[in-house]
Amino acid sequence: MEANGYTVIVAGATGMVGRTMMQVLEERRFPVGKLIPLASARSAGHTVTFRGQEIAVQELSEASLRDAHAEVALFSAGASVSRTYSPIAAKYGTVVIDNSSAFRTDPEIPLVVPEVNPGALTRHHGIIANPNCSTIQMVVALKPLHDAFRITRIVVATYQSVTGAGQRGYEQLMAEMRGETVQPPKFPHPIALNLIPHIDEFEADGYTKEEIKMMRETVKIMEDPSIRVNATCVRVPVVGGHSEAVTIECARPLTLAAARDLLLTAPGVILQDDPSQKHYPMPRNAKGKDEVFVGRLRLDPTVPNGLSLWIVSDNLRKGAATNAVQIAEAMAAQGLLRRP
Ligand SMILES: NC(=O)c1ccc[n+]([C@@H]2O[C@H](COP(=O)([O-])OP(=O)(O)OC[C@H]3O[C@@H](n4cnc5c(N)ncnc54)[C@H](OP(=O)(O)O)[C@@H]3O)[C@@H](O)[C@H]2O)c1
Repeated sequence: MEANGYTVIVAGATGMVGRTMMQVLEERRFPVGKLIPLASARSAGHTVTFRGQEIAVQELSEASLRDAHAEVALFSAGASVSRTYSPIAAKYGTVVIDNSSAFRTDPEIPLVVPEVNPGALTRHHGIIANPNCSTIQMVVALKPLHDAFRITRIVVATYQSVTGAGQRGYEQLMAEMRGETVQPPKFPHPIALNLIPHIDEFEADGYTKEEIKMMRETVKIMEDPSIRVNATCVRVPVVGGHSEAVTIECARPLTLAAARDLLLTAPGVILQDDPSQKHYPMPRNAKGKDEVFVGRLRLDPTVPNGLSLWIVSDNLRKGAATNAVQIAEAMAAQGLLRRP
């Protein structure tokens, strides 16, 4: 570990996102002086590996947060855990970057994608929310188009990886592919050789909470409440990342060439758009990468100033861990973290 580095808590360190967070901290050489992995009582005493060292996992509790004296905590242990423990960590002076849905729509809490609204970080009061995985990849691709053409409406259908439902989602697909079942199942139906148009709970209006997250979070991050968003979220038997079919309508005239040029230079975006070579983004190729991949660009002839595109990214990385570590990097660079 680095002398003068930050003390960093990873809460949910044994989970799919927590493990990826430690990998991303290591790969991006975030200046970690001490890493403190926390999880539930079930994992206390287990170890995780960070920079080649085995580190014992401790139980997440008020005492472990207090005794850590950490400058920053990356939380990925679910919304109810975050609701209980993030304010406690903040009380002890630790800045929390929270991956759950607990605080995302709270107007007092910044919801940040560093390529899109880094300025919101300065308005934090100890907790920063990391957006939903499907929202993150969509706004990274759409922000440059919004700046140029002013998006008025977004219609999106998602094709979401089983890893978005955590370790148990992944294990259900793997078991079903071997002809086995898991008890209790993570998904409400079999996922192998199937897809399930149902992620998170249904609301009275027929939308799921996952769809509502995309609709609300997008306007908060884009800082433009006039954008209308309609989402349909679907779980698919895929492991590498989430895919999205997106159609936008804009206030200003757009051309395919102008949209393509903007996406070629957009931060965090890789344009993969050459149908003649069968070149377009796929989750299998996005797995393990940090960028948002965009392709299948075409004008929508059914509306004025309409554009359809296909957006793919690794939900565990840019959709969760990488975005959280980028937030920590941006805060360190702006002097928004306590000095170690
Ligand atoms: N997967 C994604 O693509 C994704 C993307 C964005 C956001 N997120 C969010 O990130 C969070 C974690 O997701 P995941 O996919 O990593 O799930 P996961 O693989 O199921 O891992 C859950 C983690 O939370 C810990 N945990 C559960 N209950 C706890 C408790 N009472 N106290 C302390 N720790 C507890 C678990 O510890 P034990 O091992 O000890 O049970 C484990 O480390 C969720 O809020 C999810 O919505 C996930």
